[in-house]
Amino acid sequence: MSTGSLRRRVALVALPLLIIALAGSAAVVTLRYRHGLEQDLRDRLLAGAKAINGASADQTKLVMSALALQGIDTQLSADPNPVATLLKPHGPTPEVSMTGQLLVVRLPLDRPPAPGATVATLSASRASVNSAVRRLVVIQIAVALAAVAIAALLLLRGLRSALRPLQHVGAVAARIAGGAHDERLRPDRPETELGRMASAFDHMVDELEESIGRARRSESAMRRFLADASHELRTPIAALQASAETLLREQPDRPERDELEARVAGDAARLGRLVGDLLDLARLEANEQLARERVDVGSVAVRAVAEAAGHLPGTAVDVDSDDGAIVLGDADALSRALRNLVDNAIAAAGRSGRVWVRVERDGANVLASVEDDGPGVPAADRERIFEGFVRLEPVRGPGAGLGLAIARRVAREHGGDLTYAGGGRGGRFVLRLPGAAALLAGP
Ligand SMILES: Nc1ncnc2c1ncn2[C@@H]1O[C@H](COP(=O)(O)OP(=O)(O)OP(=O)(O)O)[C@@H](O)[C@H]1O
Ligand SMILES: [Mg+2]
Repeated sequence: MSTGSLRRRVALVALPLLIIALAGSAAVVTLRYRHGLEQDLRDRLLAGAKAINGASADQTKLVMSALALQGIDTQLSADPNPVATLLKPHGPTPEVSMTGQLLVVRLPLDRPPAPGATVATLSASRASVNSAVRRLVVIQIAVALAAVAIAALLLLRGLRSALRPLQHVGAVAARIAGGAHDERLRPDRPETELGRMASAFDHMVDELEESIGRARRSESAMRRFLADASHELRTPIAALQASAETLLREQPDRPERDELEARVAGDAARLGRLVGDLLDLARLEANEQLARERVDVGSVAVRAVAEAAGHLPGTAVDVDSDDGAIVLGDADALSRALRNLVDNAIAAAGRSGRVWVRVERDGANVLASVEDDGPGVPAADRERIFEGFVRLEPVRGPGAGLGLAIARRVAREHGGDLTYAGGGRGGRFVLRLPGAAALLAGP
């Protein structure tokens, strides 16, 4: 950005323009003034010649001396070409000519005042015109210099006050940078050029504040997540280590050995599952591309229910699906999300409880709802449970609290969402996904 002095730049443009305008108007005035003076001199010569024409000898002398007082020299002489004068249809006409500095009017006389005086020649010097014009030019130069000086002064003062808002912008920016984050320009007239600039500045600072806030929040969420993850990883690792050390150190006999080996296998499986979940979440957070294939959500739900029910038998699970509930997406990721919802619902409902899984088409969307007749989720926890490692009391089963976080990310990566809907018989989660037809039709 070029940041030369604005005052200098404006002055450098405005003052030459003023000088050009003054010089132009001075030239026009001078030319008109000179023309007027010359016209005036010529009129006086012509008037003198006309006064002589037809006058008597005495009157002619009087006129000549009056003209002499005005600086007009008069000479009477014989006409070298009397025939040409006589032939003129409208009588004698004056001839005006310029010889050097002299303006000359020559008029053949109708009635000569003296013998041999048939032509009057009146002449006057143009020196007076020139000196009057010179005086005018000097005055004009003096006035122009004064005008330029006053204009420069006013311009600099005007620019100083016009640029004051920019100085204010600089000062406010410096205060914001110094920590006064609430400072804003708040223009009183946002429709003017400076007002628009000030509004844009305020908007920019608001946006920066907002994104700094978001970055801070996500950084502290990430720190929390890392602390929780390390804690969750440390527990099975410590258990694994303890069991392995006991096995090595004490070399116990069966059945204690079997029990310890089973514990090692269980802890290793738990650890593997946790690391797998963390990896899945990290990949989703890193916006790693999911597959984009046609997925029948109904079939995925039926499979998820079959797997979950086989894993945790006892709970009655109803599945019901509309035909053609097709989305474009990643079958594995969607199956994982639904499986977690069904696992959670079965865990919440318990062995004697019931779970209802319903997949339906809703306009351009596909909705998969998983409902159970368990205790449901208290209102205060309905958002919190979607954060990583959040598990509510009483803690059921061996999970780490990552299932809902992963499922929501999967939903959002597909352009949909996962929310707790409540209002049902117990817990109720709804997975909303944009249908394939809507996606293929495009925006
Ligand atoms: N249907 C439900 N009814 C009541 N509470 C639920 C229900 N589903 C989830 N929750 C609560 O939300 C918590 C978080 O669920 P989430 O699926 O994220 O983790 P998890 O099931 O505990 O472990 P993971 O899924 O990682 O194996 C659960 O521990 C449970 O307290
Ligand atoms: Mg779960």
